[in-house]
Amino acid sequence: MTTRVPIVAGNWKMNKSAVEAAALLEGMLSELKAITGVERVICPPFVALAALAPRLAGSGIGLGAQTMHWEDSGAFTGEVSGLMLKGLCSHVILGHSERRAYFGETDETVNRRLHAALKHGLVPIVCVGETLAENEAGRTAEVVTRQMKGALVGLTEEQAAGLVVAYEPVWAIGTGKAATPGGANDVIGGMIRPALAELYSRALAQSIRVQYGGSVTAANAAELFAQPDIDGALVGGASLKPSEFVAIVAAARG
Ligand code: 13P
Repeated sequence: MTTRVPIVAGNWKMNKSAVEAAALLEGMLSELKAITGVERVICPPFVALAALAPRLAGSGIGLGAQTMHWEDSGAFTGEVSGLMLKGLCSHVILGHSERRAYFGETDETVNRRLHAALKHGLVPIVCVGETLAENEAGRTAEVVTRQMKGALVGLTEEQAAGLVVAYEPVWAIGTGKAATPGGANDVIGGMIRPALAELYSRALAQSIRVQYGGSVTAANAAELFAQPDIDGALVGGASLKPSEFVAIVAAARG
């Protein structure tokens, strides 16, 4: 049986200036550092990355961006490349549902971003998840399988081994209505890992960390993490509250 190290990442979304981000980190850093056995990652807005990088250096805590472009440079106004993030960050979130819904990210561009992230040595956190309408239409398996396979086109098993997946049902994000632990586990263990096994191997599907995301709080984290196929969380709102986020990370320690 594979032992997967849980990974909890805070997605700060479009919140906090560089100065505010440094202050927020200060409020949780020593407690986060003290938690062992859990990979911890903070994903602030682009403008705060340079301020947080020196504060996190040597802490054992990763720093992630919230998206990236697939080209290294060029006429792409407003975009940030993996080449620019390399050296500043360790991780990058790709294909978040908000990026898909509001900024035109597709399975195809998530795939390009993923190749570029790996080329630059960044650990990708690839997000998949169905909308409420898709869920109610019984299309969850079809959607997460399509997103998973679409993201991974052209990746070798060795490359795929380096990624983290986040299952974030869109209807659970920012709604206060998290998926039930058993329901999230069923999607991860019954749909996402089988898609990975079909593409690569059962061993790979069992070794990849799959987080749950969507209204994770200190109150529901332990029950989610007790599920056999859930390997941590991608946390939005609660990651902006130091004591909540620290409690969620601590709950992943098992
Ligand atoms: P919330 O935790 O605010 O629901 O957001 C989840 C999310 O989108 C993390 O990427």
